[in-house]
Order: sequence, then structure tokens, then C-alpha cells
Amino acid sequence: MRKVILDMDPGIDDALALLLALKSPEVQVLSVGTVAGNAPVEMTSANARRVLEYMGVTNIPVTMGAAKPLNHPLVDAQNHHGSDGLGQCGLPPPRLPVQSMSTWDFMAQLISAKPGEITLVATGPLTNLALAFERYPQLPGLLARLVLMGGAYGLTSYGKGNRTAYAEFNIWQDPEAANIVLNSGADIYALGLDISMDPRTHLNSSHLEQLRVGPTPAARLAAQLVEFDIRRRGYCELHDPLTLASLLDDSLFDFVSVKVEVIVGNGWDRGVTRVLPPEQAGEQPLIHVASAVDGSRFLELFLSRMFKEQNA
Ligand code: RIB
Ligand code: CA
Repeated sequence: MRKVILDMDPGIDDALALLLALKSPEVQVLSVGTVAGNAPVEMTSANARRVLEYMGVTNIPVTMGAAKPLNHPLVDAQNHHGSDGLGQCGLPPPRLPVQSMSTWDFMAQLISAKPGEITLVATGPLTNLALAFERYPQLPGLLARLVLMGGAYGLTSYGKGNRTAYAEFNIWQDPEAANIVLNSGADIYALGLDISMDPRTHLNSSHLEQLRVGPTPAARLAAQLVEFDIRRRGYCELHDPLTLASLLDDSLFDFVSVKVEVIVGNGWDRGVTRVLPPEQAGEQPLIHVASAVDGSRFLELFLSRMFKEQNA
């Protein structure tokens, strides 16, 4: 069982990834950090607590992190995630408190107390991680692994941008933070749009019907979360559950080890993640980037965990 800290911006697909983590015995969630991204950080931290409360989980601390990127104003994605950030799924406001300690200080405390034991899973902009790594430079080397949803690496035909034609939302939101994190020396596994925009990994209306009549509270909440997207677009992308799934069954994915450049600033190429050809590669550390996924087996895994009676 992997000890895991989540850092996320719930968001529909972040909430689905949290449900998947709670239903998976392979991971033990030690804490949920939240960051501004899909929605303001007050909303993303409330949403993490709304999902935990719905699932009857009261022993996982939720922390609030950065309210904006390091160098840019927040540009949220509430048009994609609904006015409550969770597809207007109808969950009540949270009663659970948010921790008083910031996400970056809380994660530093946990990671330093369990050197080499903790896997950090980031499915939002990387602002909290950059703030943690800047304050506590020893952290990247103390992680068992850093798994992140972010980037578009051109490794498949789907590896194009979704916030701009060239850049993926999490990296685009805070490219300076991404640059710090990707060059931190942590053992990084990055899952980008190259695999999460593959339609074979998307939920469709028949999946929604299966979830809607599912035997578990997780299935029924997943249906409410997914419905907003399916009504809008006819399908639901599962960027963040895919990222978590890499810890549940790594046979679902292929990874390549490459050096990646992140374009910072606010130009047309803001947030571009470019795989560097060997002759151009400098001192950047190698990172592992997902280059293929078995979409149908991933969906089978996701749905089976939603239908599983007991929590992890
Ligand atoms: O580009 C997709 C990513 O941006 C996902 O993590 C989604 O939740 C948003 O944060
Ligand atoms: Ca996210």
C-alpha cells in the first residue's frame, strides 16, 4: 500500500480521482491539499471536504494552499466545472474544518516525518509544490515518487493543448511553478493530454447510466459529477483519475524518460511542455512521461472501483 498525499483543484475530475483513491486499497490517503485552478482555492478546498464528508471520511485532513499562481492572476475553469466547481452535483456545503496550516507547510511536515515513504499526486496547477520545494529544498529527494497530471508532450496525436492550442491547463495556469517542480530532481511521472485526451479513456452516456443505477454512494456521486460534462459535451475526460490509476495498475501505461522544457512568462507559448531532443538537452533532470494507455482496461478499473461496496 502506498502512502499518498493528494494536491488538487476539485474540479469534477479531481473529485472523481479522490473517489477512486478512497475506493482503492493500493493507496492510503494521508492528506488532501487544495490549490486555486479549476476554481478559487476557497471553493476547491470546500469541494474536497464535500466529497470526503459524502463518503463518510472524517479522518483525512484537508489543507488550503495557494489562491493564485506564482506570477499570474488566476484564470479559473468554472465554465467547465459548474458554478460550484463540482458540476452542480448538489452536495451540501462542508462541515469538516480546513486545517489551519498551509498546504505547503503541512505536506513538508508529513514528507519530512516519513522520508522515502510518501508519493505525492498533483492534479492541479503546481503552485503548492513549488512553494513547498522553495521553502524546503530537501523535499523532492524525500519523496518516494511525484505523480502529476500536466503537460502536452506531443507523444501521441492527442498531445496538444487544451487551455491554448499548445499548452495544458495545469501547466499553463502556473508555468513558473511547473518549471520549479519539473527541475526539482524528484522522481517524476507526468501524465499529460497525450493520453487523457484519448477518447478511449473518456466516459460516455452509457457509462453514466451504469453509474447512475450503481450499487454504491461513490457510483451515484460519480454519476452526478459526470452528468454535467456529458450533458454539455457528450463525454467526460478523466485526466485526474488516469493520473491516480498509474499507482493502481502501472501495466495500463507506457512511460518514456525524457528531458522537458517548460515555457514560462505570458507569451503565446506560455505553459508549453517541450520534449528536448538529446542534442538540445541541457542539465534538466529526466522525467517519466506517459506515452501510451490501455483506455478500455483503465475504464474497467475505474468503473469497478466505483461499484465496489466497501471503501479502501
Ligand atoms: O488539463 C486538465 C487538468 O486541468 C485537469 O487536472 C483538470 O482538473 C484541470 O485541473
Ligand atoms: Ca485538476
